[in-house]
Amino acid sequence: MCGIIGYTGERDASPILIAGLRRLEYRGYDSAGAATCRQGMIDIRKRAGRVHVLEELIDREPLPGVHGISHTRWATHGPATDANAHPHLGGRSQAEVAIVHNGVIENHTALRGELERAGFRFMSETDSEVIAHLIAQALEEEHDLFEAVKRILPRLEGTYGLVAISPAHPGVLIGARMGSPLLVGMGEGEQILASDASAVAPHTRQVVYLQDGEVARLTPSGFDLVHRDRGVVAPRVDRIDWRPDAAELGRHAHYMIKEIREQPATLVDACRGRINRRDATACFGGLNLTPRALRRVRRVVLIGCGTSWHAALVGEYLIERIAHLPVEVEFASEFRYRNAPLDDRTLVFVLSQSGETADALGALREANRLGHPTLAIVNTVGSTIAREAMGGVYLHAGIEVGVASTKAFTAQIAVLTLLALHLGRLRGLSFQEGLAIVEALEEAPGLMQDTLNLEPLANQAAEPIAQARSVLFLGRDLLYPVALEGALKLTEVTYIPAHGYAAAEMKHGPIALVDETTPCVFLAPRCSLYAKTVSTIEEVRARGGIVVAIGTEGDRVLPGLASIFLPIPDAPEVIQPFLCVVPLQMLAYHVGLRLGRDIDKPRNLAKSVTVE
Ligand code: M6R
Repeated sequence: MCGIIGYTGERDASPILIAGLRRLEYRGYDSAGAATCRQGMIDIRKRAGRVHVLEELIDREPLPGVHGISHTRWATHGPATDANAHPHLGGRSQAEVAIVHNGVIENHTALRGELERAGFRFMSETDSEVIAHLIAQALEEEHDLFEAVKRILPRLEGTYGLVAISPAHPGVLIGARMGSPLLVGMGEGEQILASDASAVAPHTRQVVYLQDGEVARLTPSGFDLVHRDRGVVAPRVDRIDWRPDAAELGRHAHYMIKEIREQPATLVDACRGRINRRDATACFGGLNLTPRALRRVRRVVLIGCGTSWHAALVGEYLIERIAHLPVEVEFASEFRYRNAPLDDRTLVFVLSQSGETADALGALREANRLGHPTLAIVNTVGSTIAREAMGGVYLHAGIEVGVASTKAFTAQIAVLTLLALHLGRLRGLSFQEGLAIVEALEEAPGLMQDTLNLEPLANQAAEPIAQARSVLFLGRDLLYPVALEGALKLTEVTYIPAHGYAAAEMKHGPIALVDETTPCVFLAPRCSLYAKTVSTIEEVRARGGIVVAIGTEGDRVLPGLASIFLPIPDAPEVIQPFLCVVPLQMLAYHVGLRLGRDIDKPRNLAKSVTVE
C-alpha cells in the first residue's frame, strides 16, 4: 500500500523516480508526487490522480536533480487531493526536509497539535505530514538528518516505511522501517530506497531488506544501517532472482489477463521439484519439520485475507479429504485479536501473495508470540512474512501485478494440494491414492491450458453479467471456495455486487434475489455432488433466473438448462478448482472490459494492503 522510491547517484533522478512509480503504481494509485534537492532547495511536484498525471506535470515543469524521493498513494487520512499527495515538506518558514511515508501514524492528532503549538503550519490532512515537521524540528538541534530521523522515530506510534531528504544534506537519503516494507537497492555509484523490489530491479539485483526498527543512511557510494535501539547492523545482501521484464505487459492488454494466461506455467512452477512420484507423495524443502513432527499434528489452521483466504478454504477441503486432519480457516484480521487456542499439535500456516499484508503479518506475529511454530505460504521472495515465519513454501508464481489476484490463487491451491498429499501420505493415504493425486496434478497444467480457450465464451457470458444488478456464484464442496473467489473477482474488477454461496445454501435465503436481473453462475462439473447441484440449477430456472454454468465437456444436461454453458475438460475432482476458476477470472475480466473499468487498478483498492 503506497509505493515509495528514492534515488541518490549521478543520474537525473526524476526519470528513475517516475519509472519506479510506474512499477509501484499497483500498490496505490490515488495520487503521486516527487521531490528533489538541488542547490540548497527542495523542488516538488505532486498531483491527485495516476502516475501519468504527475509525469505530464514534470514534462511541463521539469524536476531536475540527482537526489530525490517519490510516492504513489493509497489514501488513508484525507482524500486524494494535490495537497494530501506525498512528498510532504517539513519546516517553519521554509522547507527543511521532504518525506514520503507508507503506513499509518496512529498518534498523529496529538503530534499535530503539539507541532502546531510549536509554530509549524500544516498543509495537508494526512497523518504523514507530522513526520516531516518532527524531523525539521529535530534538525534544529541535531543538524544531521540521520540523527534527526533516529531521534523522532520513538515518537511515532503505528507503522511506517519512510524516506527523508533535506537540501542541507545533498545526496543523502534516510530510510526507516516499522511495519511497512523498505529495501535498499545497491548500485554502482548510486543507491535506491524503495518499498518494493520491482522498482529497483531494472537498476540492480543486489538488495538489502530493512527489518523493523532499522534505519538506513544512503549516499551515492554506499549505505549504513543501524537499528534504532541496538546500533550498527551488518546488512544481509539478497539477490533479486527474477527478470525485471517479468513485470512487463508484453502483448497482453492488461496484467490481469496476462496473469490468467500464465497459470498453466505457474502451476508447473509451483509443483516443480515438489512431487515425489516414487513414493507417491510431495516434498518441501522449507517446512523445517520432520516427518515425525508432522505425524504428531492433530489440527491445521490456515490464515489469510481475501483471495488467500479463499485458497485456504480450498486447502481446508483438500486436507480434510486427503489427510483426514481437522482444518480451520481464519481471517487474519480476526485471528490476530481473538486469542484463538492453539496447542502444540496444531500446525499454523499464513497464506499471502505479497507477504506484506498487515493483517496476515499481524496474525503471524501473534502466533509467533504465542511460541507457536508458524509457517508461511508466500509468493514474494524476501517479504516480511516469508522472513518472519519459521519455515514455509514459496509459490514461485512470479511477480503478480494485477490488483485482482489470479495466478497466486492457483499457485496457492497447488501448494495446498501438495501439502494435503504430504500430510495424507504420512497418515492413511495409500500409495495408489497418492499416485492418483500426483497424476492429476501432473495433468492439471495441460488441462488448464485447454480452459484458456474458453475466453470467447467467457466474453459471451460477460454480456448478460455486465447488465446485471447483482450476481450469485454457486458451487459445492471444493468448488464452494472457488465460487467465493469468482464473486470476489467480479466485485473488485467490475464493481457489480456479487455473492458466493455453497450451492445448497441457496434455498436458505439467497434464492430471494433470483430474477432476470441477477444471473447465477454455477460450478457444476461432473463430481460426487453433480446431481444435487443440477437440482439447484433447476430451482433457479423455475424462478426465471439466468444461469451460466461451468460443467464438464460432453455434459448433456447443463447446455439445456443454462443460457451459457462453459465446458471444462473432464478431470478428477481434486484438480477441478484449477479448471473452474479460470473461466470465472476471465468472466470478471471481460465484464470489467465491457464496463470500461480500470482492470488492473480497480477503484479504492491496492495490491498490497499494508495497513490494518
Ligand atoms: O497479498 P495477500 O495475499 O496477503 O493479499 C490478500 C488480499 O488483500 C488479496 O488477496 C485481495 O483480496 C486481492 N485484491 C484479491 O484479488
